[in-house]
Amino acid sequence: MEKFKKLTVFEDDKGSFFREIEEVGLDSLKEDEVIINVKYSSLNYKDALSASGNKGVTKNYPHTPGIDAAGIVFSSKSSEFNPGDEVIVTSYDLGMNTAGGFSEFISVPAKWIIKKPKGLTLKESMILGTAGLTAAMSIDKLLTFGVEKGNIIVSGATGGVGSLAIMILNKLNFEVTALSRKISAVDFLKNIGAKEIIQSFEENKRPLLKPIYAGAIDTVGGNVLENILKQIKPNGIVSICGMALSANINTTVFPFILRGIAMIGIDSAEADYIWRKNLWEKLGKEWKPENLETIAKTVKLENINIEIEKMLKGNQTGRVVVEI
Ligand SMILES: NC(=O)c1ccc[n+]([C@@H]2O[C@H](COP(=O)([O-])OP(=O)(O)OC[C@H]3O[C@@H](n4cnc5c(N)ncnc54)[C@H](OP(=O)(O)O)[C@@H]3O)[C@@H](O)[C@H]2O)c1
Repeated sequence: MEKFKKLTVFEDDKGSFFREIEEVGLDSLKEDEVIINVKYSSLNYKDALSASGNKGVTKNYPHTPGIDAAGIVFSSKSSEFNPGDEVIVTSYDLGMNTAGGFSEFISVPAKWIIKKPKGLTLKESMILGTAGLTAAMSIDKLLTFGVEKGNIIVSGATGGVGSLAIMILNKLNFEVTALSRKISAVDFLKNIGAKEIIQSFEENKRPLLKPIYAGAIDTVGGNVLENILKQIKPNGIVSICGMALSANINTTVFPFILRGIAMIGIDSAEADYIWRKNLWEKLGKEWKPENLETIAKTVKLENINIEIEKMLKGNQTGRVVVEI
């Protein structure tokens, strides 16, 4: 029986978690429609949580994390996919309660799979991964609701979603203000297209501030999002996807009823298949960021632990691609 490697997170009888690279047989894969030989995955915040025993993300252990996977179809019971096809799987339940992409093989339903767009390599598709798809969804909402030009503020700017949002917005000729806590990341943020960089907002108690931004992409929540809402121009849109800082916000209705702004949530995991497919096509063409490789660090599966710890501390810059 052919063996393959995967990273497994175990829970011991004291409730502590540890990770090991295991070798298992192909017969251990859950039976599903398509088996994919994974070549690359990527590290997202949710993976770092799943890999450290967060039961809000993954209920049962042992478990293999990895919400992203790009590889080659090995076998298929679906007429949509054939052995040899280059494919991408992001989110749905992959890596959460279904064994994920930190593994040489995955077994998934056909409806989770997207054919890799021609304009991307397998590796580039994982530099983007869920982070890039989420950035694309956030930007698509701005466009759909009428934000077509102007200054967009992006928080958590050096993170995966943040940095890719800046790159795509830059490609679409928006001006971008990057909000990042990392003083050392000024050159990184300028290189990916940020025009202005700010580290924090001044303390204030007013319900509205000078309107500066046509729209926003917020990945951190908390008082950062509270301050962003106060500075959005009339009819602006704020796409929110994350809570790296906090899930709570203390705001008033004034930005909404006096400036007509809207806040729109992004749920990339369960987003409509056709929307995802269209956005992946754009990411392979007119939305494809220039010099994608410059924001990515590639690590082997065996060396992922250090990257997980760094991500949990909010200390990653750009994207981590995992070579399987
Ligand atoms: N809704 C969805 O579909 C969806 C999809 C993907 C991700 N997400 C969420 O979006 C967020 C970002 O994901 P990601 O993969 O881009 O993560 P990431 O690469 O770890 O980036 C998060 C960034 O947030 C900032 N940050 C981290 N901790 C912070 C803190 N305590 N206070 C303020 N800022 C902090 C940091 O940027 P700076 O140092 O530059 O400030 C960090 O680089 C996460 O909450 C994730 O769960 C949601």
